[in-house]
Amino acid sequence: MSSKRAEFGSRLGVIAATVGSAVGLGNIWRFPYEAGTGGGAAFLLIYIVFVFVLGVPTICAEFSLGRFSRQGMPGAYSKTSGSRRWDFLGYASILAALMILAFYSVVAGWTLEYIIESVKSMFGDVDIADRHGAFTAFTGSWTAVVWTIVFLIINGLVMLGGVQKGIERVCNVLMPILFLILLAFSVNSLLMPGARQGLEFLFKPDFSALNAGVILSAMGQAFFSLSIGMGCMVTYASYFKDDTPLVRTSIEIAALDTLVAVMAGVIIFPAVFSFGMSPAEGPTLVFEVLPAIFHQMTGGPFWSLLFFVLLALASLTSIISVSEIVVTFLCDTLGWRRVKATVVLTLFTLVAATLCSLSFGPLRDLDLFNAFDFISSNILMPLCGLGVCVFVGWRMKRPEYEAQMRGRSRVPAWLFDTITFCLRYIAPVGILSVFIAGLM
Ligand code: TRP
Repeated sequence: MSSKRAEFGSRLGVIAATVGSAVGLGNIWRFPYEAGTGGGAAFLLIYIVFVFVLGVPTICAEFSLGRFSRQGMPGAYSKTSGSRRWDFLGYASILAALMILAFYSVVAGWTLEYIIESVKSMFGDVDIADRHGAFTAFTGSWTAVVWTIVFLIINGLVMLGGVQKGIERVCNVLMPILFLILLAFSVNSLLMPGARQGLEFLFKPDFSALNAGVILSAMGQAFFSLSIGMGCMVTYASYFKDDTPLVRTSIEIAALDTLVAVMAGVIIFPAVFSFGMSPAEGPTLVFEVLPAIFHQMTGGPFWSLLFFVLLALASLTSIISVSEIVVTFLCDTLGWRRVKATVVLTLFTLVAATLCSLSFGPLRDLDLFNAFDFISSNILMPLCGLGVCVFVGWRMKRPEYEAQMRGRSRVPAWLFDTITFCLRYIAPVGILSVFIAGLM
């Protein structure tokens, strides 16, 4: 404990890093296809309720835990409770982080291939006759593995820079670019002939598509998209300054993250309808349907390049945050140096991600990709999310929690009370019942 713990330098940096964590493939790749298969507006509506009723209180809980203890996972639990009884939640979070890193970096790697493809198509013809075949062949190939490795190396380099000079600096540059690209796309999309139909799909609810499975996916999506239930926000908050306002920051994250998801919908659905495609394509929506659309669009290669750059940037700022969970653990709990932690994590992830990537080719039967996605998003995340709500709501000393939440910022009493009520009662009951209903 001789050297001082790192800190984020500015509040803008905090927002850039936490929103950078939240905004990722989850918003731009996963949200549109989940909404597409879950009935559009009906899904969106439930999703927003989950974000504010379960999400904001859970972010607040993670923030309080992280800044109070100034530890990542699982140290935040043992330091705050004075016992090791809760540590298992911390270890479960680290396991979830490792799994997410493995499959997330595969998809992130795909975006690099699509960037190169877009550039190539500016200069000549790219064969687009068989989109599905090309996508299947690519994802199952070693080329995909190479791109995943490239992505992980970039991630490792940012991590080596540390919290302030690596993560914060990169997010401060990338996040404004990301919002600018989103804005340009939204305008372009609203000018399309199918804009009306696309917007109706996204904003006019059809509740007949709803069932327990869709509701579980909406909750899983809210947790995944907000980066909660895995200690990510605990880890980042352990680097916050004492005067960073936790409640305000958590509401800003929720609002901006939802805004980006909605914008992704506004970008994608009008295009889907304009070009007579189906919104319910599933996971291939962004990688098969969109490229086909770009091909028919005026200025297609340009938009295509812009889109996949957007996706790559969003993935990078998210992968960084998942890596930080593990790096902070290795440094805090095992006392490693940052360089060693980053190198070991990168090597480990290279292997795990390669195995995931090959799930689309030679290792199809093992299918680690979907197994990791399912276990982390549908099982570990709800359980760890439940754990953090119960811990902070019921076990953490009330004055300690209140000092973090209200400390040096002015939070109106009604807001604090509402969030605390949601944290103690609504979130645990909600998470548990949706989790059980969804599994059945
Ligand atoms: N929120 C990111 C997305 O929407 C994914 C992510 C980053 C994440 N860090 C996380 C999910 C931590 C859960 C926990 O793409």
